[in-house]
Amino acid sequence: MKKVLVTGGLGFIGSHTVVELQNEGFEVCIIDNLSNSKIEVLDRITSITGVKPSYFNIDLRDKTAVKDFFAKNKVDGTIHFAAYKAVGESVQKPLEYYENNVASLVYILQEMKANNLNNFIFSSSCTVYGQADKLPITEDAPVKPAESPYGNTKQIGEEIIKDATKITELKAIALRYFNPIGSHESSKIGELPIGVPQNLIPYVVQTAAGLREELSVFGSDYDTPDGTAVRDYIHVVDIAKAHIVALKRLIEDNNKAQFEVFNLGTGQGNSVLEVIKSFEKVTGKKVNYKLVARREGDVTAAYADTNYANNELGWKTELSLDDALLSSWKWQETL
Ligand code: WQD
Repeated sequence: MKKVLVTGGLGFIGSHTVVELQNEGFEVCIIDNLSNSKIEVLDRITSITGVKPSYFNIDLRDKTAVKDFFAKNKVDGTIHFAAYKAVGESVQKPLEYYENNVASLVYILQEMKANNLNNFIFSSSCTVYGQADKLPITEDAPVKPAESPYGNTKQIGEEIIKDATKITELKAIALRYFNPIGSHESSKIGELPIGVPQNLIPYVVQTAAGLREELSVFGSDYDTPDGTAVRDYIHVVDIAKAHIVALKRLIEDNNKAQFEVFNLGTGQGNSVLEVIKSFEKVTGKKVNYKLVARREGDVTAAYADTNYANNELGWKTELSLDDALLSSWKWQETL
């Protein structure tokens, strides 16, 4: 049985990926310091799959602990989700973001190298493209100067990994997520935003649930069909499944280069107003909203060209925006 380390395995995308890995017969070790997740998620995962993953409460900034883990656990692959991810917060706490997202990454790669462990998957983001000149966005679109320390950590992270693959046997895939949303069909795991949600879907869902008065739609004067910004919303279970395909590609040595990059999106762009309308249609719930000024740092439109991931990785999305929105609502109803 192949053994996989999932860092951040109790988080939103991590927990869904652990479930898919276990469904595919992988043995899973989770490292998570609970900085943005809850230990109960471990039991939730177990109740979905029937198998309890091994769990290590390790802070990846603790170099000695990272060293100790890799010396004792000969994993066939590492999927590295653990990171801070709040764009706005990263502007206020840049050094914390660089330490947590960059220093930890370096420690993991150093210890994988020391133990001859070679398969690595990195959570990257479409944020590296900024406002792309051409839509849909292909993987060879230029990386733009980041709008935030968070965005920087993803760009720098990719560079660090790329450089490491040049001097070691390391093989790595960076997956650039567009906008991951939705929940597992069991409604046992999902997104757990702490405090006021910054992302659209959690805010929509909490407004529909009566927990928030009104959704602010940031910007209605964009150069888009209805004036609101356009994004590529992708179901988290589709994202999770892409990780299994990418991992197998590395384990089976089917990768074409030591460092590869793939977009994970649906290829479909939807505006904020379209998302609200779809949500209201599939749930029958009303979302109070008002149009307000643009949010600083937001781009007009971003959606993926999925050809490379579809053809080369052999993966494509199976779930729709409606599926994702309904699953988010069902998850909210359990909270
Ligand atoms: C989507 C659209 C908002 C909230 C960010 C990061 C990206 C990734 C995902 C990950 C935008 C609008 C939002 C609200 C609104 N990060 N909106 N009212 O900004 O595309 O991507 O999160 O870990 O790296 O940049 O996602 O969900 O915040 O916003 O109108 O209350 O919804 O302006 O157009 P974004 P989002």
